[in-house]
Amino acid sequence: MKGVVLSGGHGTRLRPLTHTGPKQLIPIANKPNILYCLEDLRDAGITDIGIVLGDIMPERVREALGDGSEWGLNLTYIEQGAPRGIAHAILCAEAFVGEEAFCVYLGDNVLKESIRPMVEAFAQGADAAAVLLARVPHPERFGVVEVDADGRVLSLVEKPKEPKSDLALVGIYLLRPNIFPVIRGLKPSWRNELEITDALDRLREAGSDLKAHVVTGWWKDTGRPEDILEANRLLLDDIEAANEGTVEKGARVEGRVRIGPESTVKEGSVVKGPAVIGRNCVIGPDTYVGPYTSVGDGCRLIGADIEASILIGESLIETPNKIVNSLIGRHTTIRAANDRLPRGQQLIVGENSTLVL
Ligand code: G1P
Repeated sequence: MKGVVLSGGHGTRLRPLTHTGPKQLIPIANKPNILYCLEDLRDAGITDIGIVLGDIMPERVREALGDGSEWGLNLTYIEQGAPRGIAHAILCAEAFVGEEAFCVYLGDNVLKESIRPMVEAFAQGADAAAVLLARVPHPERFGVVEVDADGRVLSLVEKPKEPKSDLALVGIYLLRPNIFPVIRGLKPSWRNELEITDALDRLREAGSDLKAHVVTGWWKDTGRPEDILEANRLLLDDIEAANEGTVEKGARVEGRVRIGPESTVKEGSVVKGPAVIGRNCVIGPDTYVGPYTSVGDGCRLIGADIEASILIGESLIETPNKIVNSLIGRHTTIRAANDRLPRGQQLIVGENSTLVL
């Protein structure tokens, strides 16, 4: 079976972070989002993967992932250009897929459990397609699926005003090449996209069996900053302590904290897990890094106080103002002014920014 990972879309809800790169590369617990998807596919036995690139700095995806051999993958890049919907992105992968069954995985998903059982069931069975679903509180924001007691799909509707169930499509689809002619017959939807949800509903109407699997662990679609921070918390809940750096005398590291090579926690500093510190970071002196924080490579935190946040990397934080629930882009400087502003400000900051607080 082949894999098709979608890395397009404009990530408008994540601007300004997505002005300078695709959302799928935003790190969560210090690992680019798309790598969680690729590793899930690999662990399900799918290593021949086509990555469909969008038009926001697609070269960054190629630079980050290369030929994939570092992760035991064989990657092929496919250009989609401007986003015209998931079904359009899948159609771009037609030549790559050839005659095989394939798994489509949206590159901005994070899933706790492995897709392996679903992939194996599909490979052995005769279903035309299989979809992964999750129960959600606001199904109207997703593709919604109605399922019978045996797990057969009864209907699929993209963002219905009156959802028939609380089961949302998570963005993992198992398909066969017979989906391509169905996609070619689609008309753009109200949002001017070719919808895979519509293609699957047509396949079902034509008499094909579609199988539904429901997620039992957690699932996060990382479309908004708060979703990325939530995914960061969920992933950090599972990390194990590891120290490849240096913790100086007079510094404290408590709980499950992973510290990368060439990083130092300096005197007077406290790091409370779960947290990850990348490589080549300087934490301190006199810095507090609280639970659920991911500090990317090359950051310096001097007299800082940060918690439940993501620092993507190469940033300088030199302010005693508490930073919470924040998502901070690369090459950002946050430093103190003489007049103290109120504490606990929330920051969603893009790349190459300077904040004087
Ligand atoms: C897309 C799909 C939708 C699915 C969702 C999952 O929505 O169209 O069916 O539920 O991904 O994240 P979009 O993110 O394009 O609004």
